Amino acid sequence: MTNSPKTTANQMWGGRFASGPDAIMTAINASIGFDQRLYAQDIAGSRAHAAMLAATGILTSSDAEAIGEGLLTVLSEIDAGNFTFSTALEDIHMNVESRLKDLIGAPAGRLHTARSRNDQVAVDFRLWVRDQCDAAIQGLNALMRAFLAQAEAGTDWVMPGFTHLQTAQPVTWGHHMLAYVEMLARDKSRFEDARRRMNECPLGAAALAGTSFPIDRHMTAAALGFDRPTANSLDSVSDRDFALEFLSASSICAMHLSRFAEELVIWSSAQFRFVKLSDKWTTGSSIMPQKKNPDAAELLRAKLGRILGATVALFTIMKGLALTYSKDMQEDKEQVFDAADTLMLALAAMTGMVGDMTANREVLATSAASGFSTATDLADWLVRALNLPFRDAHHVTGTLVALAESKACDLPDLSITEMKSVHDGITQEVYSVLGVENSVRSRMSYGGTSPTRVAEQVARWKTLLA
Ligand code: ARG
Repeated sequence: MTNSPKTTANQMWGGRFASGPDAIMTAINASIGFDQRLYAQDIAGSRAHAAMLAATGILTSSDAEAIGEGLLTVLSEIDAGNFTFSTALEDIHMNVESRLKDLIGAPAGRLHTARSRNDQVAVDFRLWVRDQCDAAIQGLNALMRAFLAQAEAGTDWVMPGFTHLQTAQPVTWGHHMLAYVEMLARDKSRFEDARRRMNECPLGAAALAGTSFPIDRHMTAAALGFDRPTANSLDSVSDRDFALEFLSASSICAMHLSRFAEELVIWSSAQFRFVKLSDKWTTGSSIMPQKKNPDAAELLRAKLGRILGATVALFTIMKGLALTYSKDMQEDKEQVFDAADTLMLALAAMTGMVGDMTANREVLATSAASGFSTATDLADWLVRALNLPFRDAHHVTGTLVALAESKACDLPDLSITEMKSVHDGITQEVYSVLGVENSVRSRMSYGGTSPTRVAEQVARWKTLLA
């Protein structure tokens, strides 16, 4: 099976090798199949490195210029799809360098001075993940705006609020939509924090120990938009915590998306009819003509499984690795690529769905009034008007709920005589607190569901997201 003896040694590092690798070794070892996604970052890193080598006198400026120009040609070839990636050349770093040699000849061999693939891949991957943080932040801004528009339209629409998915208290549509704006804003700040922390440049750490060449790491860091160079070369080539932070933030965000996705699945059902999803985000059934399935919502509910899977995978890959670089770490990329693609698609889909959905205001209002949703308002009235301790008020209200339930009516349908049969202090005034509109209007505490408070929060978010 093995074909090793016939193959030739690797042209980039094969000096001490008499033969090339087994074909299966090539297959397990090569990362070019996926790390070609890093080509723009790899070329940017190399161009910054070459310019710095010239500025510090390590390379002649004519060699550095030839390298810089040649790298731009490689970039345009890959951009245009005119580049043949070679598995024998293992990864993006050696594919680019080898093509550079075809293009400019001998000076290409000087590019790798004072550098290793270890710091090269660390800088490429950081640049890529940094871009993904920016993309996630943008996607979250768009999604927050979509929720905010829903909140603004329905600031005072009454709907049932749930705990345990059982009717709890009436709330406002705007309040429910803004709950997601709050969650997504925290998601966004997690990506911003992660971006800030990862924004240090590992280039120049070389293989692991730094280099004896008089390089200027501040120069390459600045050229690549980093805040500063990393301070420890061993750490620089061996950690992937920046990728883990990205994955962790992505997982939390996807968890939030999955919760709203589940609400959409429930709310769009014939039994709830709280919202209507547009045709753009639903599918039909091949056998049941009446069906409009919330497939996008269901998929969004599932995406966390995939993103969290990538997160667990990378933690498991990194766990227990002795410093510094080990080839295990090559397994980081596919996980992060897939999770990032999944997150960006999920954010875009959720933004479209939220923008297109229509709340069924009448159904929400009717549903808000069912299930004794104003029982807490009744108990609070007993405390306020009759000075009952809350525990007693709770008991009296519970008895009234049981009475209404036995008569198959709602709390406002009980007569004053029936009310008084449970507590004779109750007066006609109690009926004023049993309506859902009154209920939500009374929840004026800061962060509460009253339309007044919700309107204030809508205004705050409009300023913040402008
Ligand atoms: N393809 C490698 C990776 O993704 C690049 C770094 C390889 N370094 C090395 N010393 N083999 O991790």
